[in-house]
Amino acid sequence: MTRATMAPPPSPWDAMTYVVTETCIKCKYTDCVDVCPVDCFREGPNMLVIDPDECIDCTLCVAECPVEAIYAEDDVPPDQRPFIALNAELAKAWGPIVERKPAPSDADEWAKIKEKAKLLER
Ligand code: SF4
Ligand code: F3S
Repeated sequence: MTRATMAPPPSPWDAMTYVVTETCIKCKYTDCVDVCPVDCFREGPNMLVIDPDECIDCTLCVAECPVEAIYAEDDVPPDQRPFIALNAELAKAWGPIVERKPAPSDADEWAKIKEKAKLLER
């Protein structure tokens, strides 16, 4: 007699997260904040990050960002992978943001600039 196969119980190590990447720097449109059901965005001076311990992997924020700064952890482009650890690190240092706010007045100009990592303010 063969033993019935059962799916393993969910493990916290299976959890994924979503990640805010370089494109957000100095744009900070905050459209993402309004749709997050668990308020896991954290606000720095010129960028937001996602707290990986709180993100429930719902995907809602991805489509909201006008500059496509948010990726599922597994889909983060190779040159943006340092932002996975950076989101985790900065989420511990920065406070929550739970409501959308006006973007910086020059956000649309910064949206055209790709390399901004050095401008990240902590
Ligand atoms: Fe919030 Fe969902 Fe985006 Fe995670 S994937 S940051 S839970 S909106
Ligand atoms: Fe940044 Fe896009 Fe949110 S620019 S603040 S990730 S909407």
